[in-house]
Amino acid sequence: MERITTESAAQKFIDEQIEALRAQIKDKKVLLALSGGVDSSVVAALLIKAIGKNLVCVHVNHGLLRKGEPEQVIEVFRNQMKANLVYVDATDRFLDKLAGISDPETKRKTIGAEFIRVFEEEARKLENIEFLAQGTIYPDILESDVGVKAHHNVGGLPEDLKFELVEPLKFLFKDEVRVVGKTLGLPDGMVYRQPFPGPGLGVRCLGAITRDRLNSLRESDAILREEFAKNGLAGKVWQYFTIVPDFKSTGIKDGKRTFAYPVIIRAVNTRDAMTATVENVPFELLEHITQRITSEVENVNRVLFDLTPKPSATIEWE
Ligand code: XMP
Repeated sequence: MERITTESAAQKFIDEQIEALRAQIKDKKVLLALSGGVDSSVVAALLIKAIGKNLVCVHVNHGLLRKGEPEQVIEVFRNQMKANLVYVDATDRFLDKLAGISDPETKRKTIGAEFIRVFEEEARKLENIEFLAQGTIYPDILESDVGVKAHHNVGGLPEDLKFELVEPLKFLFKDEVRVVGKTLGLPDGMVYRQPFPGPGLGVRCLGAITRDRLNSLRESDAILREEFAKNGLAGKVWQYFTIVPDFKSTGIKDGKRTFAYPVIIRAVNTRDAMTATVENVPFELLEHITQRITSEVENVNRVLFDLTPKPSATIEWE
């Protein structure tokens, strides 16, 4: 199959998919877990074009999303694209479940299991749903085949909730999905988004997650993203984010001793996430970001820059 690199090739793909989706789904209803990531957003936009309100999107806010993300999903899909969107703010539920859990893998499993539970509850409230749409892309299928990772976007739903799968992107690579998304009219901020892990900020708020550190993490991450965008690094650096560890250090503010958290900045480049190098961020910009974070973000008195490539480090801290 020819690779989709231009808007006209994307338009052809979109037209063919709309026809195929209408033939498969007819007047039945389709459910989609819409995270706001590139893949699920493109699936949503495609299905809205094909079947309109017969697509039911469920956006679960697990409280671990970046600043502005749930608002963007609501704005783009409910307000602009007129989608049938169910928004579930499950923040308290997730943070209560995660309280006191410090082991990284247990945190991931807790977030994954709770996500399926919330999604299942929403699915049971709806009637006459016959299909489940997923943003599976070609690398997901390749990786499942060789056993690198079990591919289950919303895997783990109970047996009695049986849906037929709709996976319109399953033969596309990420760069092709982006061209299709752009052609469908999705905003650049959504289409060219940096990768963001499913457990979200949960793996960057180190150890047992607390609301105060999660807030420091979200606010410092927003400052970093804003400064990278302003200084031409947003489209250049593969992944950049902040981390907040679970220890404090001594500092000073307005002549008074403080005892507060550090923020760690990570900015890396990679082709396939298997190895990564550190972006050479201009020192003046790092100083400016440090100044902003320490003056604008609560409970923070120190900023560090992670100089470590992968290996020996991984990209994420947990
Ligand atoms: P690491 O930390 O293993 O990360 O070097 C490699 C890439 O994978 C992302 N990542 C995840 N993505 N669920 C995801 O969907 C996860 O649990 C997860 N952990 C890491 C990470 O952001 C990086 O892009």
